[in-house]
Amino acid sequence: MERDRTCIWHPFTQMQTARPPIPIEKAKGLYLYSEDGKSYLDGISSWWVNLHGHAHPYLSEKIKAQSKLLDQVIFADFTHTPAVDLASRLLALLPGNMSKVFYSDNGSTAVEAALKIALQYWQNQNSKTDKIKVICFKNSYHGDTFGAMSAAGKNEFNKPFWKHLFEVESIDPPTLGQEPQSLRQLQTILNKGKAACFIFEPLILGSGGMIIYPASGLNAILQLCRQHDILTIADEVMTGFGRTGTLFACEQLSERPDLICLSKGITGGFLPLGVTACTERIYHAFLGDSLKQAFLHGHSYTANPLACASALASLDLLQQQTCTLQRQMISLCHASFCKKWKGHPKLKRCESLGTILALEYRSTQPSSYFQSLRDRLYHFFLDRGILLRPLGNVLYVLPPYCIQEEELDFIYSQIVCTLEGNL
Ligand SMILES: Cc1ncc(COP(=O)(O)O)c(C=O)c1O
Repeated sequence: MERDRTCIWHPFTQMQTARPPIPIEKAKGLYLYSEDGKSYLDGISSWWVNLHGHAHPYLSEKIKAQSKLLDQVIFADFTHTPAVDLASRLLALLPGNMSKVFYSDNGSTAVEAALKIALQYWQNQNSKTDKIKVICFKNSYHGDTFGAMSAAGKNEFNKPFWKHLFEVESIDPPTLGQEPQSLRQLQTILNKGKAACFIFEPLILGSGGMIIYPASGLNAILQLCRQHDILTIADEVMTGFGRTGTLFACEQLSERPDLICLSKGITGGFLPLGVTACTERIYHAFLGDSLKQAFLHGHSYTANPLACASALASLDLLQQQTCTLQRQMISLCHASFCKKWKGHPKLKRCESLGTILALEYRSTQPSSYFQSLRDRLYHFFLDRGILLRPLGNVLYVLPPYCIQEEELDFIYSQIVCTLEGNL
């Protein structure tokens, strides 16, 4: 802890006032173990990345085997089996007619690549194209790089950079009852004739407050985009790999996106990897005699073989029936918790989507990441050995799929304490 303070700057942290970080020595399954002998139930899959539990022996074996064969190789002009195997397995699983995979190394870069592909797609057809605007949902989150920040719209997190963000058009997410307004806003933007693409988090806005919205409104939006020949980008960085009940959230839609971004759970939570998948139509627009028409973008760790091996191993586990049954069990438990506690006077909202449970506490202060209830909730659970990291007054549970019913019940019982006690 002492040495950490001398040399480390932590993410999303006010280093002057934050409590000292908890030194984690090891992890196994659902639990993180600290140097002072405490254990923490990882109720948020360590920022939504861990799928099957920590230090899963199957994943570590596969990564170890790959590390003895090929650790890393430049991915321009070279290729390797784990990257090809992973791309073909993903393409067979992804909804829509995805035809090619472009690798990067995290969620933000997967989004950057998607935005750049969508914008260049129109440039490649016509260098004087008017189709230059990105449309996004208000309150969405796509990462912390400049393109991803721009596409999220303006908020407190990106305020210091407002002058540097590129201009986007934004519409309200089609939450229940809000659908006609979202469509009207979209129509107004489309009438200007400048839109190039629409980027969205399917069915749930994650960092924006776990805002769950029905598929029907999104289908109508995607249809309208299609009618106006606007490319659509599904950001499944959080929702991918079973979080929302289906393997990918877009499977619950009747409309299909042109591009899909993946990261977080893709490697089961062991190593960083990003994927941007696209249709043949998009890929085709980058083919030609000139290098200038190519997608001149890449990252040093693109398609890292260890990360690809980890992703392949994670897919093996994800596709086992035991994992499907676990996800169903988590979904059912969350749903019955919601049924019981939905109307509680302390709650503005209590809902679930697949393996994600979200509760919004009523508060006199406006819902924001910066309010004190957030800190009180965070420490309440941490003191009881549970890692939950509320987004303002929105508490959510997004556990690894290896969690058992008794462990879910323990989390729920502590949530109930916050409702019935005087937090
Ligand atoms: C929907 C979505 N897109 C993109 C990102 C950015 O991913 P990363 O943190 O790996 O850059 C996140 C991260 O929370 C996310 O939730």
